Amino acid sequence: MEKIVIEGGIRLEGEVEVSGAKNAALPIFTATLLAPGPFRLGNIPNLRDTVTIIKILESLGVKIEKLGEGEYEVDGTGLCGHETPYDLVKTMRASCLTLGPLLARTGKAKVSLPGGCAIGERPIDQHLKGLEALGAKIDISHGYVKASVDGRLKGARIIMDLVTVTGVMNIMMAATLAEGKTVIENAAREPEIVALAKFLTAMGAKINGAGSSIITIDGVESLHHVDFDNIPDRIEAGTFMAAAAITGGDITVTGVVHNDLHALTEKLKEAGCEITEAVKSVRVQGPDKIRPIHVTTAPFPGFPTDMQAQIMAVMALADGASIITETIFENRFMHVAELWRMGADITVNGSTSTVCGVRSLSGADVMATDLRASASLLLAGLAAKGVTRIDRIYHLQRGYERIERKLGSLGAIIRRE
Ligand code: EPU
Repeated sequence: MEKIVIEGGIRLEGEVEVSGAKNAALPIFTATLLAPGPFRLGNIPNLRDTVTIIKILESLGVKIEKLGEGEYEVDGTGLCGHETPYDLVKTMRASCLTLGPLLARTGKAKVSLPGGCAIGERPIDQHLKGLEALGAKIDISHGYVKASVDGRLKGARIIMDLVTVTGVMNIMMAATLAEGKTVIENAAREPEIVALAKFLTAMGAKINGAGSSIITIDGVESLHHVDFDNIPDRIEAGTFMAAAAITGGDITVTGVVHNDLHALTEKLKEAGCEITEAVKSVRVQGPDKIRPIHVTTAPFPGFPTDMQAQIMAVMALADGASIITETIFENRFMHVAELWRMGADITVNGSTSTVCGVRSLSGADVMATDLRASASLLLAGLAAKGVTRIDRIYHLQRGYERIERKLGSLGAIIRRE
């Protein structure tokens, strides 16, 4: 099995460009199911997850051609299927984003129910509640969700019980082709939702309020193809910013949207980093001594859960004790036990962990358990003394494009073995 091997203890320096956002690319691909193509999508990261979503669309009869680096033509004129099987959903939960668009375009969708995953139970009850409110008949049997509607879906007022990113995306996509007005209240406000809304609007959808907690969608009869460039990946950007912090380095991350990174930027400043923002780029200079900070994850614009594992690695080397509280997922501290193996002093109590900074981490053989946990181990490995070998790097390949090459260009000694 492939491993990443890092010789740590090197201060990273230089400039690195951020790739397209995984969590915006996936819903944008599924949104193409709402209209026949051809669409041209740009700034699509080359990741395991994008390969999976492409496979899913192709299995539904959609033709996808790679036009160049990060650029695809998606043609759904031949859409003939309506089923997303377990084999694909089990490798990527976001596969359930086919549910809303398939239902809206074809009147039926059969999608495997995602099971629990490494970071939590992650049910999709809110997706289903929303689609039911739009008039869908939902039947769950043999591990599959079957959704169907006679005629068009009907607009409705939907109050989400909790803030869910892909839940809102699924409902928003379905509502674009519904009859009448849909109002989603207590909606998630993540930049990826705004990106999807922009894509849908370019396709002819009538959407207001994306990025706020109330989104209004006036259904239209049909949507059309467009060309669209994806937004940058704020979590990848954040991971490089954390790399500057943990190695006491000096990294400029280009192609970023500052507002999307605000909560992280503020925390890194608190930790002693010097941050300089320029047009679409951010320079992070790591401190000599990392100051401990307290972090509580929250839906956007709060501190992203997808950066919790990485900030914990940074705090493992802080000059004092930090408190990190995870409020989004119930089991997102799997990286802790691996960080212990590198000498970190972390105690977990329910959803809160106390990270007592140590003077140095030591390289070790560690195992990635999920995507962001892998990123945390990568960061720890960059700062640790000696060699770190990260096993199960397929998790990392789900969300970080050319990561060894990008880190290598900043001076890291890193290779795949
Ligand atoms: N939840 C429910 N019922 C639902 C939906 C969600 O109880 O119907 C719960 C979840 O179990 C969780 C919380 O609500 O406790 C929030 O989950 P959310 O639905 O917002 O997560 P998601 O949409 O499944 C997306 C990202 C995740 C990211 C979260 C939170 C994609 C493809 N995935 O997941 O990204 O952590 O939002 O911001 O957009 C990652 O990239 O590593 C990743 C896990």
